[in-house]
Amino acid sequence: MIFSSSEENIKKAAEVILAGGLVAFPTETVYGLGGNALDAEAVARIFEAKKRPSFDPLITHIGNLAKLDELADIRDSRIYDLAEKFWPGALTLIVPKREIIPSLVTSGLDTMAVRMPDHPIALELIRQSSGAVAAPSANSFGYLSPTEASHVEEDLGSRIDMVLEGGSCRVGVESTVLDLTRETPIILRPGGLTRQEIEAVLGPVDQFNRTTTSPTAPGQLEMHYSPRTPLHIVDDPSLVPDKAGAAALIYSDPSRGEGFAFSEVLTPGGNPVEAASRLFSALHTLDQSGAECIYAERIPEEGIGRAVMDRIYKASEK
Ligand code: TXA
Ligand code: MG
Repeated sequence: MIFSSSEENIKKAAEVILAGGLVAFPTETVYGLGGNALDAEAVARIFEAKKRPSFDPLITHIGNLAKLDELADIRDSRIYDLAEKFWPGALTLIVPKREIIPSLVTSGLDTMAVRMPDHPIALELIRQSSGAVAAPSANSFGYLSPTEASHVEEDLGSRIDMVLEGGSCRVGVESTVLDLTRETPIILRPGGLTRQEIEAVLGPVDQFNRTTTSPTAPGQLEMHYSPRTPLHIVDDPSLVPDKAGAAALIYSDPSRGEGFAFSEVLTPGGNPVEAASRLFSALHTLDQSGAECIYAERIPEEGIGRAVMDRIYKASEK
């Protein structure tokens, strides 16, 4: 059930988390499905509610920097440079974990994913509960990520205790996952924070490339974030022959969507940040339109456009 994010309801949600329950909450990227990261049973419930395979590790969300040293065994000072510059924000760091983190959270890995989300409701909830909240995106495994409370309610509502209302997520794509356990850090998942922003602090970093490297983290698996309607990527949707029963996901030029039964334009002004913020809502809308298939226009991969194109690619039929 969706609850307004009143002070009283956030307090109630924190109690639910401390009691081992599950609360979906807004972050600046997407809605998360939160449970106490320090309680293995609560973490098991997250996997169950999402029908997520237990080999796919979760991100632990913190509400203040002091918590980081309690959970992780930090020996690399670069993490503090990044945390100072980008937290709270759309950056998830892979760092060595301490014993206190149950191995279910990390799927048995000796590293953990940690981030401080940039959202007042998320921060309050984390601080008032266990201070360490495990939260994957609040969607069934493999389905589109939620950027509205209603997306969560439709998908998982009957399987979780509460959904906190926080409106539309500002960034709209998940956090950038950066593995800091190597000499040259590597971006495992492109996301809300761009490679350029990270490199301005760290110098050159690597970027996982799904076509040349085998996956080391399950988030790199190809089928993910998919609508139920088959999705095909095309350079120019206006050139598709069978438009009648189909839907189009257009980057900026509305005329490219003419003739389709349904169409959504991500950013009429051609702004990639706006495109990211609207992506999952547009895909949810097109998925529910009843169209036989969705043609998605290839978009420019500069800056956050890289993360947007990554999600469109993962949503497509292979
Ligand atoms: O923006 C986000 O990151 C959202 C919000 C709710 O914070 N969360 C999110 O969680 O996207 P999830 O579970 O959908 O994605 C977590 C990603 C996965 O790709 C997972 O494989 C990776 O983080 N991950 C987690 N722990 C890891 C580890 N120890 N090593 C490498 N990758 C890890
Ligand atoms: Mg996810």
